[in-house]
Amino acid sequence: MSRIENAAREAGGSLPPIVWLLGALVAVALVLAMASPWLRRRSPNLWWLLWGFPVTVARFRWTWRRLADVQGLSVPSRPPTALLGNVVVQGRALKPVKPRAGVPRWRRGGLSIKVRLHSGQTPEIYAVACVAMAHAWRVHSVRAVSDTRGTVWLVASAWDPLSLPAVPFRGSPGLLAAVVGVWEDGGRWLVNLRRVPHWLIVGATQSGKSTLLASLVAQWSRQQVALVGIDLKGGMELSLFARRLTGLATTRTEAVDLLDVLVEVTMGRMAVCRSMGVRSVWELPDKQQPVPVIVLVDEVAELYLVATSADKAEVARVSTALLRLGQLGAALGVHLIVAGQRFGSDLGPGATSLRAQLAGRVCFRVADKGTAEMTLGDVDPSALDVVQSIPVTMPGVAVALGAPEGGWIRARSFPVTPEQARETAERFAHLRPTVGQLYAGSGGLS
Ligand SMILES: Nc1ncnc2c1ncn2[C@@H]1O[C@H](COP(=O)(O)OP(=O)(O)OP(=O)(O)O)[C@@H](O)[C@H]1O
Ligand SMILES: [Mg+2]
Repeated sequence: MSRIENAAREAGGSLPPIVWLLGALVAVALVLAMASPWLRRRSPNLWWLLWGFPVTVARFRWTWRRLADVQGLSVPSRPPTALLGNVVVQGRALKPVKPRAGVPRWRRGGLSIKVRLHSGQTPEIYAVACVAMAHAWRVHSVRAVSDTRGTVWLVASAWDPLSLPAVPFRGSPGLLAAVVGVWEDGGRWLVNLRRVPHWLIVGATQSGKSTLLASLVAQWSRQQVALVGIDLKGGMELSLFARRLTGLATTRTEAVDLLDVLVEVTMGRMAVCRSMGVRSVWELPDKQQPVPVIVLVDEVAELYLVATSADKAEVARVSTALLRLGQLGAALGVHLIVAGQRFGSDLGPGATSLRAQLAGRVCFRVADKGTAEMTLGDVDPSALDVVQSIPVTMPGVAVALGAPEGGWIRARSFPVTPEQARETAERFAHLRPTVGQLYAGSGGLS
């Protein structure tokens, strides 16, 4: 055997450990790449940990400079003008500086990256670039969240976290609050009437409005509050909870009477607050605090429909009463939850004024852009496209106001069945206050 052959054999027999390690890593990567589609179907979280996350980080590293340049996130290192002899020339500086991005952090089903804003930049331009990032990194979505000045977090979700029904929450979020679902960032979807006193819930038929109302009823039934229902669909939805409701109107004439009583209750509470020198019922001594009232309206458009001239007077009374409750109720413990397929100016000026009082907004899938605009356009036009992209196959998915960092967020409500909500309402029927107990000075339930 020649000397050369001997040398080659010796070299092959003692490969350095680094080569073995690299070989093993390549083998593992190959196996993972081949098993990736199967693993993703079987166990998405494990897939994300072993394959999705490292690959997405690699894609981020690979594409960040180009993305930042194309999306206008990089800034030139030199001013765009220069002196050439006696002439000032203007142009685009070469080699713009990309924003400084931190190490991607793992999250369940996603990742987040902290980015330092260049001076003069605002988080909005990052929000605009999110769609391009989602495409470049092959993830479901990317959101730009800014909770501290000068930085923005890019939060990527590998798949739609709302594609599976949410698991109901068991616990007590406090008086006048209810956890009704999950936000797409995994947080709890909280409706808190102490913070946002009145809500508007809009969505096409079969989008999930009544299910959300049922979920609210199921949670508030357990609390010391009065629930009042107005359901002009013949009471089909809210009459299920009749034993826990202090009042239920199923025709517009009944609604007028019920609302008149509630306006009287509200005015009475106002008089008490005035005489005690306080600005809200929550500032009254504990013993004198009246029981909070929550008015649930399903299919609000029915209240505003005018077919004959006789309807006009009734609609005017309903409209005035609802508006007064909206304007005065927040400080006096009277809250409105108004649901419907549409709620806009075509229902008359009363509807538009009431909408302005309903600061809390939930918009399920809608059939047309106009309805989305009616619901969210006056508060945040950036949510309109997102609402319209909710598929029919995902009832209960909505865009809601009240994200932790402000603004809107996608959410999915708990799939509470009417039967479950009815059972809970009946279990707590003994907590139902009478109409008399709603008046100020009756001592409430305490
Ligand atoms: N969060 C959810 N998860 C899963 N399924 C849901 C969810 N919310 C609603 N659904 C389902 O969608 C269907 C329609 O729901 P719902 O009755 O609440 O719609 P709606 O908006 O009130 O419709 P309509 O305007 O016709 O009264 C129901 O079958 C319900 O089970
Ligand atoms: Mg309904």
